[in-house]
Amino acid sequence: MRMALGKNSKPPLRAPNWTDKPMENITIRMVEPDDLTACHTIEARSFPPLEAAWTSALRTRIETYPEGYLVAELENRVVGQINSGSTSKDDISDAEFKQLVGHDPDGENIVIFSLSVLPEYRNRGIATRLLDGFVNHARDMGKHKVLLLCKEDLVPYYQRRGFAHGGLSASTHGGAVWHSMSLAL
Ligand SMILES: CC(C)(COP(=O)(O)OP(=O)(O)OC[C@H]1O[C@@H](n2cnc3c(N)ncnc32)[C@H](O)[C@@H]1OP(=O)(O)O)[C@@H](O)C(=O)NCCC(=O)NCCS
Repeated sequence: MRMALGKNSKPPLRAPNWTDKPMENITIRMVEPDDLTACHTIEARSFPPLEAAWTSALRTRIETYPEGYLVAELENRVVGQINSGSTSKDDISDAEFKQLVGHDPDGENIVIFSLSVLPEYRNRGIATRLLDGFVNHARDMGKHKVLLLCKEDLVPYYQRRGFAHGGLSASTHGGAVWHSMSLAL
């Protein structure tokens, strides 16, 4: 599947290709509207209720910024997801941004909201495939940085994949403590 770039998007650095080559039967592809239920199931099984995005928020992300939303498919089942918004700001602690309030498709930065995999499919490299595909595509889109917030236990996971730890975020999402991570592209 070829990716549809927004009309004001910067040209890609290389030919865009949203469908990763299947390896071990896993396909990484851009989200489609029919994936909403599967994506919400992954979200609800991956995050505590106060942190999980509602169906309406996931629908907004799918409809508004599908080019920033990848899913992992295994044997016709969507088992993992990574979704995002874009902004030129570096401070991503604003809770409303998760509903894409303030989203700017031409922003320099791309902000990961959720990287999640169904529990029974974890520890086989699916999240890493999603993250690698996402980072490559963000580079193709001309983004300057990938930003995200994570809990303390996952800081080393992102550091092993090249992200820098930027300290604590002001975000209090779900009543948790969040760490800022960034990857320069
Ligand atoms: C984090 C998550 C996406 C990883 O998915 P996955 O497909 O199992 O990931 P992979 O198989 O590609 O990689 C597993 C890695 O995750 C690390 N990991 C997973 N959960 C972890 C945790 N709670 N604390 C620390 N490391 C963790 C493993 O140590 C392993 O690291 P390594 O490959 O560098 O050794 C998955 O556990 C998940 O959905 N968790 C719940 C949602 C969540 O917390 N998402 C992150 C939001 S920022």
